[in-house]
Amino acid sequence: MPLLALTQHQFTQLFKAGCIAAALSLGGVQVAHAQRTIAEQFIQDMKDGKISEAGADDHVVQELIIKRSIPITYDYIDMLMNTPNAFGPGVACTVCHNSNDPSKSYRGLDLSTCKGIIKGSTEKPKRALFTPGTDPKRDPLIRRLRNNRMPLGLGFEASTFTPNHMLVKQWIADGAKNDEHFNKDVLPLFSQANAFGHNTPACTACHMSNQEPPSFHELNLSSHAGIMLGADSVAKGVDKATKVIIPGNPDDSFVWQHLAENRMPPGIAPSEARDHPNTTILSAWIKQGAKCD
Ligand code: HEC
Ligand code: HEC
Repeated sequence: MPLLALTQHQFTQLFKAGCIAAALSLGGVQVAHAQRTIAEQFIQDMKDGKISEAGADDHVVQELIIKRSIPITYDYIDMLMNTPNAFGPGVACTVCHNSNDPSKSYRGLDLSTCKGIIKGSTEKPKRALFTPGTDPKRDPLIRRLRNNRMPLGLGFEASTFTPNHMLVKQWIADGAKNDEHFNKDVLPLFSQANAFGHNTPACTACHMSNQEPPSFHELNLSSHAGIMLGADSVAKGVDKATKVIIPGNPDDSFVWQHLAENRMPPGIAPSEARDHPNTTILSAWIKQGAKCD
């Protein structure tokens, strides 16, 4: 029925019905909450003092995007991969990773398409860089953006295949035992300057006890017990300490990952934010399912 055809009486009835409907929908606090826009919710959180103080590099992203579950689009991820300095100073990812042809693109990794990002490295060892829908913090893509190669400050030009590197890798592969070989040939490497690169301090200069400061991540690389205990054993408790050695599996062992993997983009300084806002956004896109549309 067209509005103009309504009689005065009919119009009044309709108007009343509308008011009742509006009153009903505003009646319950629950209903009103559900109808808040994201901006209204943000203003309410400010009034309630729920916005955390600035401090972290990704503070804005955490407060306005992650905590409010804003969907991240692939368009934004695509732009990041093609833009210089997107994750800290350096050339764009797609300059070096733009096809599945390993003769043209490092690791046969194509970061220039959504399918390519999900497929991962196609050169041996082939591997996906994350599992969509899960936290990718320890998976290859995000750890390459966050983790500095050790000893801290060592550049990509320094070999990751020196005899000392191979001694550590083999020791882990053989079960990470506390035997004579370990104590004579492997353990001393961690307390020796220049063991894994020129002009570098010993690992134990920065990881010497379970006290932070001075020992980064409460990691003690000066004894077998300390190495096997792992990182952050005081902060998290001994049972929940971060294991840095997985006996028999160097690739999953953080000690080996930190010795062998260069942070991306190559040449980035360790002082650059590890929680770069765009790294946090890339992680969120993966956690949300790494959707391509
Ligand atoms: C100047 C060239 C260059 C740029 C730019 C570059 N990479 Fe790399 N990337 C490499 C090289 C070389 C390797 C293999 C050597 C190594 O492992 O360090 C590699 C390896 C990787 C790996 C490991 C793949 C695997 O199979 O484990 C990932 C992930 C990665 N890069 C991601 C990125 C991301 C993300 C960016 C952009 C921030 C980026 N790269 C920028 C050269 C580059
Ligand atoms: C100059 C100080 C310094 C030196 C030397 C150093 N590290 Fe680190 N290490 C750090 C810092 C800072 C971090 C924090 C994470 C980062 O920057 O990636 C760290 C993190 C780590 C982690 C990760 C712990 C975790 O919770 O996941 C491991 C494993 C590690 N270092 C091993 C080593 C090894 C092995 C050596 C020697 C080859 C070494 N470090 C030398 C400063 C240092």
